[in-house]
Amino acid sequence: MKGIVLAGGSATRLRPLTKVTSKQLLPVYDKPMIYYPLDTLIRAGIRDILIIVAPEYAGHFMNLLGSGKDFGAKFSYVIQDKPRGLADAFIVGEEFIDDDNVTLILGDNIFDHDFSDQIRLFKSGGMVFAKKVSDPKRFGVVEFDSEMTALSIVEKPENPVSDYAVVGLYVYENSVIEVAKNLKPSARGEIEITDLNNIYLEKGELKVEIIEGVWEDAGSFDGLLHISNIMAEKAKQQVSNKN
Ligand code: DAU
Repeated sequence: MKGIVLAGGSATRLRPLTKVTSKQLLPVYDKPMIYYPLDTLIRAGIRDILIIVAPEYAGHFMNLLGSGKDFGAKFSYVIQDKPRGLADAFIVGEEFIDDDNVTLILGDNIFDHDFSDQIRLFKSGGMVFAKKVSDPKRFGVVEFDSEMTALSIVEKPENPVSDYAVVGLYVYENSVIEVAKNLKPSARGEIEITDLNNIYLEKGELKVEIIEGVWEDAGSFDGLLHISNIMAEKAKQQVSNKN
C-alpha cells in the first residue's frame, strides 16, 4: 500500500493567511498542518509516501520534511501544475503508485482515528470513510446499506440524504489510475473524487467505514481555529498525564 498526501491547491478561502504560503504549512497549534496527515498515514503502517504540492511552495515542503528519514518513512514529491481536482492525484501520482494499491489523504484533513486495521484488511475496489456531522451540505455525503456498501454519494448536496460526510481519506485498488484518467471535468472544471467514487459505487465495489473521534477539515478559518484548540488541549492533557 502506497500513500499520497494531496497538499496543492490555491486555498483562496484562507486569504490573506495563504497569500505567501501554502495552507498545509500553516500552524495547527504547535506543528505545521501537513504533519497531521503524514502522521495518520505513518500510524496506519504506510511508509512510502508521495507529497503532491503546488509549484510555488515545492521547496518549502522539501526543506521542512526532507527525505522522510526523521519520520521513519520515505517521502517523494511531485508538482501539480494546476489544481485540476482531487482525482488528479492518481494521474500525477501514476509513476509513484506503479502496480500497488493506494491511500489518498487530503493535506488539510486532521484525524485522531487509527486507520491501520481497516487499511490492512482492504482487498479490492474502493473504501471511503464517513463521519456523522451536523452540517453535511459542506461535504460529500454518503448513504449506505446494512452491509456497509455505498448506495449513493453526492458532492455538497442541497438536500442531503444522510448525515454522513465522506472524510478526506480514501483507499483504492490499482485500477484507480485508469478510472481517474477517464473522468470528465465537472461544472467547476475539476475531476472530482466524488465522480471517481461513483464509478466504484455503480459496480457495487465501494465500501464505507464509519469513524469516530476527531475529524476536521482545516480549510476554513473556523476549522483551523477549532482543530488548533483541540490539539492544544490534547497536548496539555498528555503533559498532565505524565506528571
Ligand atoms: O474534507 C472532506 C471533503 O473534501 C469531502 O467531503 C469532499 O467530498 C471532497 O470533495 C473535499 O471537499 P473540499 O471542498 O474540502 O475540497 P477542496 O477543493 O478544498 O480540496 C481539498 C484539499 O486538496 C485542499 O487541501 C487542497 C487540495 N487540492 C485540491 C484540489 C482541487 C489539491 O492539492 N489539488 C487540487 O487540484
